[in-house]
Amino acid sequence: MTRIVVLISGRGSNMQAIVDAGIAGADVVAVISNRGDAAGLVFARERGIDTRIVDHKQFADRAAFDTALAATIDTFSPDLVVLAGFMRVLTDPFVLRYQGRLLNIHPSLLPAFSGLDTHRRAIEAGVRVHGATVHLVTPRLDAGPIVAQAVVPVLPGDDPAALAARVLREEHRLYPQVVRWFVEGRVAVDERGGVRVRGEGRSEQTMCVPQVDAG
Ligand code: GAR
Repeated sequence: MTRIVVLISGRGSNMQAIVDAGIAGADVVAVISNRGDAAGLVFARERGIDTRIVDHKQFADRAAFDTALAATIDTFSPDLVVLAGFMRVLTDPFVLRYQGRLLNIHPSLLPAFSGLDTHRRAIEAGVRVHGATVHLVTPRLDAGPIVAQAVVPVLPGDDPAALAARVLREEHRLYPQVVRWFVEGRVAVDERGGVRVRGEGRSEQTMCVPQVDAG
């Protein structure tokens, strides 16, 4: 059984999608939040999943917080740590401790739009496609090896909320899929640092999404 600890900061809808996917061979053993009011904690408790709160405001600096967070995570002996809307920048020692078994989802097609406020920035940049990326976490923020991405069109009239909702629907398909691959032992990092998913079929389809005039 692959033991999974999920870290959240808020709504936790990606965590819910992973739990609801009922991935064979996977057990979400704990959900940990840096905020006591994270809505996702309610869902986890209802599902009988262990929850913990490690409040970053109780610690003097990032290093102290990350040390306490890692200590809490390690009580669950996870094989995989999943960042699902966990809105804290992590220190290098934390990231290195879980390297190779630490996944994150980011709401953009990385390396475009790392950081915050991705949907507004994508609209302002005039990109035609946007989406989400699941990557292995390395010390450089939002820059670890990409496992998979989901693409959505940016449509005329989109505001950040509409675009975020379209991306989020894809996040809920993408993240459970990547976790499933990981659990099945199919995610491998090659010699150049890129991720290969063993046994996944290739697609050479081209996507073309112009901004068309309604009239
Ligand atoms: C998701 O859109 C996720 O991609 C994003 O926060 C949201 C969390 O939603 N993550 C980041 O911005 C990380 N930098 P959720 O709590 O409902 O899963």
